[in-house]
Amino acid sequence: MKFRFTFLALFAALVLVACDGLPQPTPTPDPDTPPGTTSASRWTLEQAWGLEQNETNTIPIIDQNGFPSGEDRTLPGHHVWDTWPVRNLDTTVANIDGWSMLIHLSVPDDVLPGKRHDIAQLRYSYSNDGVNWQLGGLLFPDSQSGQVPGVELGSRNWAGSAIVDENNRIYAYYTATGVAGEDVIPQLTGDTTAQHSLSPQSDTYPGYPTTPGISYEQKIAVAYGPTLVATANGLEIQGEWTHEILLEADGEFYQTQEQADVGPLNAFRDPWVFRDPNDGNIYMLLEGNVGGANKSEQECAPEDLGSEEFRNQLEAEGVVIPDEAPWYNGNVGIAASVNNSLTDFELRPPLLTATCVNQELERPLFIFHEGRYYLFISSHIGKFAPIGNLQEKGAEGLYGFVSDTIDGEYRPLNGHGLVLANPEEQPFQAYSYDVLPVTTGDTTRFFVTSFVDYPSTDDIGAVGNLPPEEQLAGFGGTLAPTVEIAIEGDTTRIVDELAYGEIPTSTTTE
Ligand code: FRU
Repeated sequence: MKFRFTFLALFAALVLVACDGLPQPTPTPDPDTPPGTTSASRWTLEQAWGLEQNETNTIPIIDQNGFPSGEDRTLPGHHVWDTWPVRNLDTTVANIDGWSMLIHLSVPDDVLPGKRHDIAQLRYSYSNDGVNWQLGGLLFPDSQSGQVPGVELGSRNWAGSAIVDENNRIYAYYTATGVAGEDVIPQLTGDTTAQHSLSPQSDTYPGYPTTPGISYEQKIAVAYGPTLVATANGLEIQGEWTHEILLEADGEFYQTQEQADVGPLNAFRDPWVFRDPNDGNIYMLLEGNVGGANKSEQECAPEDLGSEEFRNQLEAEGVVIPDEAPWYNGNVGIAASVNNSLTDFELRPPLLTATCVNQELERPLFIFHEGRYYLFISSHIGKFAPIGNLQEKGAEGLYGFVSDTIDGEYRPLNGHGLVLANPEEQPFQAYSYDVLPVTTGDTTRFFVTSFVDYPSTDDIGAVGNLPPEEQLAGFGGTLAPTVEIAIEGDTTRIVDELAYGEIPTSTTTE
């Protein structure tokens, strides 16, 4: 990889300097050292300490009583949350004879919002105006390996990405969560009181997997075979799917389920496939946690926290780093395609770690802009490490980092990383962001999609105690208003708000 060359050049330079009798510089990190120790970029506590919500990053209020419901929802009859468009490898939204396709995590709309992650299914929709999305159905309609229709690998399916090649063949990457056949839907017996005590995001609040008896192991999967065909009425998926597990956590770079012996839910999920515009190779980003040791044995390295000056400042202010701080050890992983295949990838060291800062760097994605790599992730308030008032500084939001090369060094955008945050009055109004580049002529604009979560609460953990009908009424489960952001160097700002679920189309594609 490129960093090996950089390393050699730097090493040669250091030797020259040392031979010159000048002071010995700090040794350059060994690129073969497992990331999370020296080689990956870090989102440090010092950077995150500067998190600041202001008018450039605060999303406009979503009307608690005005978001689309019933037949106006993105997929009538269903809750949707994480959503991604079928894309070209260059990251642009695919345009198949005027049609675009979205893939959604979804469940029928009588499922309590807090239970949705336990039985998540993939559904697709299509549109020829970027505003009205027509439900196509289950992405894998013939799959039924366990209790959840449409699921072939795992017991339910979590987020991913989808690519079409030059022949309109679709490659759907997703997370196979749990073990096929396990009992994930005891609540679908009609006994709604059985669901009553579950919090709205059972796997994310208060931060531990709380649905007893089901597993949370995650593997990266692909399904391929069919072709997308435009008809007079929409987009059809024609052909048979083949499903394969592509990647599992290796325990070295990426924490396995077994290594996650304490603390919040482990992650090895959310594959996002792209072609690097610089080296022309195909890669996959993913959400992981730092491996190498059991989580209970991991520590906050001084470099995770920041400069000596900042560490001294923490000490002077009496900020204690609690024992559970290293349990928050999210990373952004990367895998490289073998021979540019879309169905064969091998894990590489992570690009970014957030040990002692944040546990979940979710749904990582790249924007390539002005020769730089912009890396975006979603994260929750409760996934920031419980250090000082870091959790209060954090927001349900979109975070970003920028680098001149794919390997890094990544710098947090806006100094601290926050790009979009829910308004403080409605901290849980929306979540799970995708950033889409849309090119018209010479201009590329950036549109951020998300879903309406719980606009009406400021205590997401308490929602599970509400009567089922109130839980359902308060939940959006539909695409949120799209937000346009400007990206200028190391900074971003909100420039516009569009309609609910609007995805403007490019006039040029790959
Ligand atoms: C983000 C997320 C993803 C995951 C999915 C599960 O909203 O946590 O990381 O794939 O939701 O529902």
